[in-house]
Amino acid sequence: MADHEARVVPVLRWEELPEGPVVVLLDQTRLPHEEIEFICTDVPALVGAIRSLTVRGAPLLGIAGAYGVALAATRGFDVEEAAGQLAGARPTAVNLAHGVQRVLDAYRRATAADGDMQRAAAAALAEARALHREDADASGRMAAAGAGLLRELLPGGGYRILTHCNTGRLVSGGEGTAFAVVHAVHRAGELRRLWVDETRPLLQGARLTAYEAARAGMAYTLLTDGAAGSLFAAGEVDAVLIGADRITADGSVANKVGSYPLAVLARYHHVPFIVVAPLTTVDQATEEGSAIEVEQRSGHEVTEVAPGMSVAPLGAQAYNPAFDVTPPELVTALVTEAGVVSPVTAAGLAELCSVSPAGTSRTGNGMMNA
Ligand code: MRU
Repeated sequence: MADHEARVVPVLRWEELPEGPVVVLLDQTRLPHEEIEFICTDVPALVGAIRSLTVRGAPLLGIAGAYGVALAATRGFDVEEAAGQLAGARPTAVNLAHGVQRVLDAYRRATAADGDMQRAAAAALAEARALHREDADASGRMAAAGAGLLRELLPGGGYRILTHCNTGRLVSGGEGTAFAVVHAVHRAGELRRLWVDETRPLLQGARLTAYEAARAGMAYTLLTDGAAGSLFAAGEVDAVLIGADRITADGSVANKVGSYPLAVLARYHHVPFIVVAPLTTVDQATEEGSAIEVEQRSGHEVTEVAPGMSVAPLGAQAYNPAFDVTPPELVTALVTEAGVVSPVTAAGLAELCSVSPAGTSRTGNGMMNA
């Protein structure tokens, strides 16, 4: 069996076992070498899985949080407490808090309506399933909008795209965000090469994006994060495509650490820097990038190449922010399921958020079409 024909293990699923419902995750810490599922029977297990990056990536964190609230409701745990624990598991990706809140609201509405706990649990599960479906749908729309944008910006195809972290099927109910766009141009025969940043320190690029690119049969090349500069200088990058964990009202983009340096490089080398994210990643309540809480992770992720395998002197201190923030002026375009914003401005973003996700629009430079 060719690599790209390999079976697809669901990234996240709800399963009703005789002993009760569970949330089953594809354990992303074991990829690419092992496809092992991790079963969450309770909320602390799911919170632990979120913190350890067993399940990860902004849209999927939202879906996981949503099913976590449904799990608490269905199993008769304290739903309010569970929601608080889930929403606080990781701070930067706003999708997590959004997914948790959406299902909690549905649960509260159902509880207030007639007090029937079984019906409230069913309402919570239905809402989580709806979010999951909507994310898959958003992924398809982003893929089409992003591919269209690439063709507009860079007519002729043959794209050499640089990406960072992991933004594919592993982060989504569908084919992902930035990677879904890459997939669309690959299917159309327009992808010449996918440059995959390894994405230190947890190697989401090397472990996960390379795994997804290989399965899709793409021509891809892995590089260390520090090699990106020489790749730009050699004229080998036509566009940068990344996802996002939170986009504030002014259009600032929090994404995996290492994204901001790519935006600076892209601007210097006159290469489009495109962010692809669903509207669930937009946080209109936070005005600007400096207000985003950036998750700080253990220094061991930097000082060790694998748990217990240190590469630094004993006691070395490490700076390990999980994300960085790119200012809107460095972002060529933001692609969402509701359309494209370019240039990225607070007004353009607000306008996009006010249109129905079912329609598509193009804001900026006076363009707007249904
Ligand atoms: O720490 P992670 O692996 O959860 O970080 C994920 C990213 O930064 C992705 O690039 C981001 O979630 C966008 S994917 C839609």
